[in-house]
Amino acid sequence: MKKTITLKVNGETFNLDVEDRRTLAEVIREDLHLLGTHMICEKGECGACTVIMDGLAINSCLVLAADANGKEIETIEGLAQGFELHPIQKNFVEKGAVQCGMCTSGMIMTAKAFLQKKPHPDEEEVRHAIAGNFCRCTGYVRIVDAVLSSASELKES
Ligand code: FES
Ligand code: FES
Repeated sequence: MKKTITLKVNGETFNLDVEDRRTLAEVIREDLHLLGTHMICEKGECGACTVIMDGLAINSCLVLAADANGKEIETIEGLAQGFELHPIQKNFVEKGAVQCGMCTSGMIMTAKAFLQKKPHPDEEEVRHAIAGNFCRCTGYVRIVDAVLSSASELKES
């Protein structure tokens, strides 16, 4: 069965007709063509599909699009201002925290929601915050470093 929903994604409002069995991740990728939200496990285990919904980092593969009706969603595409990367994106690049890139957008969205709530974290808190986001490439050290550097930069700005 189809339902009409309204999503505000990266500041833009979309009215969409969606099958009630489809996930938010599917609608973001297939209907809105925002392909930066990755789908790997599709069962809430890897964190690659993380987006921010009403301020909270969520696994968009576990949320039905119909249940996101009326919500405000941020995806990785909403972070850069034109050609200017968001400080978290910039730090991921500069610290070498991006390798294959499959985890990167989810990791950055988790980091963004986390730093909004906890602007001055220590290393252990960062490791705890990203525990639901798997990375098979980096060994996490560079990612943690990038999040800590982002916290310092965001604090200064
Ligand atoms: S694709 Fe959603 S948690 Fe893995
Ligand atoms: S950079 Fe490859 S999975 Fe994280």
